[in-house]
Amino acid sequence: MIRTRMSVLFLRKKGSNPLTLIPPVNDYLRSRPMRREEKIRIDAKSFRNLSKIIYERSGIHVMEGKEYLLENRLANRLKVNNCKSFEEYDYFLRYEPGGEKEITRMVECITTNETYFFREKSHFTMLREEILPQLIAKKRTSGNPTIRIWSAASSTGEEPYTISILVEEMKKELSGVRVEILASDINNSVIRAARRGIYGDNTVRHVPPDIRMRYFRKIDGRYHLDERIKSRVRFARLNLVDENRLRIAAGMDIIFCKNVLIYFDLAAKKKVVDSLYDSLLPGGYLLIGKSEALHDISRAFHPVKMRNGLVFQKE
Ligand SMILES: C[S@@+](CC[C@H](N)C(=O)[O-])C[C@H]1O[C@@H](n2cnc3c(N)ncnc32)[C@H](O)[C@@H]1O
Repeated sequence: MIRTRMSVLFLRKKGSNPLTLIPPVNDYLRSRPMRREEKIRIDAKSFRNLSKIIYERSGIHVMEGKEYLLENRLANRLKVNNCKSFEEYDYFLRYEPGGEKEITRMVECITTNETYFFREKSHFTMLREEILPQLIAKKRTSGNPTIRIWSAASSTGEEPYTISILVEEMKKELSGVRVEILASDINNSVIRAARRGIYGDNTVRHVPPDIRMRYFRKIDGRYHLDERIKSRVRFARLNLVDENRLRIAAGMDIIFCKNVLIYFDLAAKKKVVDSLYDSLLPGGYLLIGKSEALHDISRAFHPVKMRNGLVFQKE
């Protein structure tokens, strides 16, 4: 690394940008085979610049001390874009054609997409036994018998599909009431996977056996989700810190926004929770992850302790 930087500075044309190299050197650096053990370290300035872009684009706060996260998750992006250092990658993102598109890919690499069916099971018991029966009764007497549910950080689809399975199971109770499910995420690749609806053992491990039998077909060791469950869910790419785009998610009765606020700093959390508040109808419910909290973030919601857990209600 040191040798590379020294060559760059030595051969730099007078007055040119340090990253605009004399062509043969540039070609050599770009084509030099990278040894497997050669981990590219991030310098302090690139770390500041890249974490700022990530924060502005997604709300995800990469704290100082997490340099390894960018080094590990972005190593392949550097390789794909022929960048030999984070300094070069940072320059590419800002000033070169294709930089804007690459920013989207970079943010996707930083997101953590861990999820599985029936994650934090008591939330789904609460949905089935407490929230939905209440809403069904309310909607039946209203002029618009539609329940709208939004899974706001849906990752590969396990959360919205778990909701869709419960809705299918409650078909009789729901007669005359329509349920629409919107699922969204900032990451295009997880949305594509969600639309496919094909899963491995790990993600279906908490699915009760009878449900697994009814709604999945095992083909070549993979679980294919039934079309009835898939077709109830509409997927969209939505960035939770983009309040203008979030307007398409208005008039919600229930929002699941689970295990994503933990990646944001306080300012981003407040902004997102304010938008979720605006997306809910009066009396609507917000569910957040069990390791997440709303104190310090919003006083607008009323915490409601149900038999199966805590939910936040818009008054
Ligand atoms: C850990 S997963 C949570 C999945 C699911 N809600 C659950 O609890 O199992 C977090 C998801 O949040 C998404 N995410 C991160 N920042 C986001 C943002 N600004 N807007 C929308 N989604 C975001 C990530 O792409 C990731 O798929």
